[in-house]
Amino acid sequence: MREKDFVAGKYSASVIDGKVTYKSPSNIALVKYWGKKDNQVPANPSVSFTLDSCATTTSLTYSKLEEPGKDFSFELLFEGKPKPDFKPKIQTFFTRISNYLPFLKSYHFVIETSNSFPHSSGIASSASGMSALALCLMYIENQLDPAMEEDYFNAKASFLARLGSGSAARSIKGPIMQWGHHQDTEGSSDFYAINYPYKVHEVFNNYQDTILLVDKGQKQVSSTVGHNLMHGHPFAEQRFKQAHDNLSKLQRIFAEGDLPNFIKVVESEALTLHAMMMSSLPYFMLMKPNTLEIINKIWEFRAESKSHLCFTLDAGANVHVLYPESEKDLVLQFIKDELVAYCENGQYLCDQIGNGAVEI
Ligand code: DP6
Repeated sequence: MREKDFVAGKYSASVIDGKVTYKSPSNIALVKYWGKKDNQVPANPSVSFTLDSCATTTSLTYSKLEEPGKDFSFELLFEGKPKPDFKPKIQTFFTRISNYLPFLKSYHFVIETSNSFPHSSGIASSASGMSALALCLMYIENQLDPAMEEDYFNAKASFLARLGSGSAARSIKGPIMQWGHHQDTEGSSDFYAINYPYKVHEVFNNYQDTILLVDKGQKQVSSTVGHNLMHGHPFAEQRFKQAHDNLSKLQRIFAEGDLPNFIKVVESEALTLHAMMMSSLPYFMLMKPNTLEIINKIWEFRAESKSHLCFTLDAGANVHVLYPESEKDLVLQFIKDELVAYCENGQYLCDQIGNGAVEI
C-alpha cells in the first residue's frame, strides 16, 4: 500500500454516536529508530518485540456535531481526570491525520486513557497511547466504511499511529514488527509497520522482557528532540547503514535462533543509540550510573552462567532485560539477587513478547 491509499474515499454509511475501547501494548525495539525525515518517515528501518502487559487502554466516545467544526473538538481524561498537558500532543496528532480521516472535525470526542504500568515509571507511553487512539479512530472509519478489509484496517491504523509517534506504528500487531523500508524485507514500508514476515525460531516464543526501573523521573531530552539532532549528526549516514546491516543479520539469527549473535546485535544497537545521543550537538546523556552498573552485572553474569540474557535500552535510563522463557527462573533469581538494588525503589516490571492490540 502507498501513502495515497490511506486517503479516505467517500463513506458509504453514516454514524451518529458510539463508544469504542482498545488496549494497545508498548513495544521494545531491537534495531532502533533514531532519526527521521519530514512527516514521520524514519531515517532507517527498525524491528521490535511487541510487549504484552505494558499497555494503554483508551476509550473513545464520539458524537456527531450538527455541522463540522472549524477545529477539532475533544476532551481528554487520563486515569479519570482531565489532563490538559496531553492536549497539545493530541491536537498535533489530529492535525497530522485529518487529511486521512476527513470525519475528524464532524464529531466531538471524549478520550479516556490509562496505562497498566505505574504513572511516571519512565516508560514511554507514546507507542501504546498513540496506537490505541489510532485504532479507536479506525474503528469509527470502519463503521463509516463497513466494506473495509482487515489488512487495510491494520495497515492504516499503523500508518496513523506513526503520525502520532513513530514507534507506535509497531504496536498494532505482534509478536515481531518491522517498520521502515528494507531491501531484504518484502512488503516493508516507511509508512506503516508489518509483521516480520520470515521464519522465527521457537526459542523466541514467549521471549521475556523484564524492565528495570532505574530512573522514573521525566527525561531531560524528549525523543522528538533527539531524533532531530540526527540531522547534520557527524555519524548519521554510518548509523543508518548499520541499522540496515543489523536488520539483514537478524534474518538469519531469527531463523536459526542464534542467540549469541542476537545478543551482539541487540546490545550493540542499544549502545549505539546512546552513543548517538552523546555525540549529538548539543550532546546529552540519558543513561544513569545505575544503568551502567546493571549492564556490567549482566555481562559478568552471562560470562559465568552461560545464560542468554541481554539488555536493551530505549530513550531513557531504564534497562530492558531480554531472555528466553526457558531461562526465566535463573534470570529472575539473578535479577532479584543482583539487579533490584540498582532500581528506583526496587521496582521492575515483568513482561513478555505479545500479539498486539485488542478491542475490549
Ligand atoms: C529510542 O517513537 O518516541 O525508543 O516519533 O518523535 O514520537 P517520535 O519518537 P519515538 O522514538 C522512539 C525511539 C526509541 C527507538 C525505537 O523505539 O525504535
